[in-house]
Amino acid sequence: MPTIMRSIDEQGYHFEEWLTPERIAEDVQLVANQISSDYEHKEPLFIVVLNGAFIFAADLIRALKNVRCEVTFIRVSSYWGMSSTGQLEFIVPLQQVVDNRDVIIIEDIVDTGLTIHQLKAHLRGLGATSIRVASMLFKPGKLEYDDAKPDYVGHELTDEFVVGYGLDFDGFARNMDAIYKVKE
Ligand code: IMP
Repeated sequence: MPTIMRSIDEQGYHFEEWLTPERIAEDVQLVANQISSDYEHKEPLFIVVLNGAFIFAADLIRALKNVRCEVTFIRVSSYWGMSSTGQLEFIVPLQQVVDNRDVIIIEDIVDTGLTIHQLKAHLRGLGATSIRVASMLFKPGKLEYDDAKPDYVGHELTDEFVVGYGLDFDGFARNMDAIYKVKE
C-alpha cells in the first residue's frame, strides 16, 4: 500500500491496482492519435475540467502530433436548481472566447454525464462551432445523458470508484501514477 493512501486505508477501504502507468500511457497515446488525425487541419481549444483532469490533460496534449491548439481551464460544480435544465456553478470561470471555436473538453471521468451535459449546453450557448469530449475514463452503465457520451475514451469501467492519475478520494491520491479500484 503506497504511503499516500494509508490514511484512506485506515477508514476500512483497500485499493487494487487496475491500470498500470504503462497501460495508462498506451491509452493516452491512442486517444492522442485519434485527436491528432481528426484535428490536424483545425485549431482546437482544449478546455480542461479541474481538478481531476489536470494530469490526463498534461499527458494528452503533449502526445498530440501536428495539432496547433490552445488550452484553457475551468472548474465547475453542477447542481439542480429551480430550472429543469440544471445549473452550472463556475468555481474557476472560463476565460477564453469560445465563439466560432472547435472545442475539446478534457475530463478525468464521465459518470452520470451531468457535468458534461450542462457544460456542453453552456458552450453551445456561447457559440462554439463544435464540442467534443475526451475523457480518460468512462462508466457507460451509469450514463444518464446521451449527449454526454465522450467522443474519445482512454478506458471504460463499470460502476466502481477509482482513484489516482488525477482522480481523488476525499482530496487525496491524485498524485498516484497508477489507477486503483477502491474496495470496501
Ligand atoms: P458526472 O457529472 O456524474 O459525470 O461526474 C463526473 C465527476 O464525478 C468527475 O469529474 C469526478 O470528479 C467525479 N467522479 C465520478 N466517478 C468517480 C470515480 O470513480 N473516482 C473519482 N471521481 C469520480
